[in-house]
Amino acid sequence: MSIDLAVIGGSGLYNFPGLENASRHTVDTPFGPASGDVVMGDFAGRKLAFLARHGESHTLPPHRVNYRANLWALHSLGARRVIGVNAVGGIRADMGPRVIVVPDQVIDYTYDRYTSFCDVEGAEVRHIDFSEPYTESLRRALIAAASKADIAVIDGGCYGATQGPRLETRAEIARMKRDGCDLVGMTGMPEAVLARELDLEYACLALVANFAAGCGDEAEISIEEIFAHLAAATAEVPRILGALLKS
Ligand code: HPA
Repeated sequence: MSIDLAVIGGSGLYNFPGLENASRHTVDTPFGPASGDVVMGDFAGRKLAFLARHGESHTLPPHRVNYRANLWALHSLGARRVIGVNAVGGIRADMGPRVIVVPDQVIDYTYDRYTSFCDVEGAEVRHIDFSEPYTESLRRALIAAASKADIAVIDGGCYGATQGPRLETRAEIARMKRDGCDLVGMTGMPEAVLARELDLEYACLALVANFAAGCGDEAEISIEEIFAHLAAATAEVPRILGALLKS
């Protein structure tokens, strides 16, 4: 079956609203199980595959997600274009709660994750170019789709990927800001690099759930507020992706 678009849903997006004639696919991968079944169906007149990154009941923390299995599963089912939907904290002043960003750069602060398909016995070592971590044509298409759907998104920004599952300290965020990060999230890497290793087109739709530590007015970040903001931003995702599929 050909797939027009694959979507990896992050926190707050555990199934894809409006997906019709859905079928579930459990994929055996050389890297173990994916986060769950890939759900394939019709959306906006095209074929969409959906995978919940943290599992459909959010049981996998960011550092335990089997990113390799997830990308492998989507690729083996025939996906060639992938959108990663990621909850993030905003560092830049204009990236407050409910803002949607299509980042163009990444800094990876994660550790102890499998970051390549080639760290398997006997696999050929491949050094890939990652100067531009996201597929520019897909980023452009996503931004154009949001505009067509009349949904504001910010074009560009640097995504800093942290280990989680805890949020960061103020000092950590201050350092990330000095480094040039505009957003902080826990799942953007190694997903983006693994997609590149499989020659998948990949872009990120980052949904701002909160101001990162020390960036907003509040002394503490409320997890309830994070999920409320996330629900509001997540509600816009199907319309953006519907416009992308119709373009
Ligand atoms: N930090 C890291 N990941 C996040 C945050 C944050 O503040 N908010 C949502 N995901």
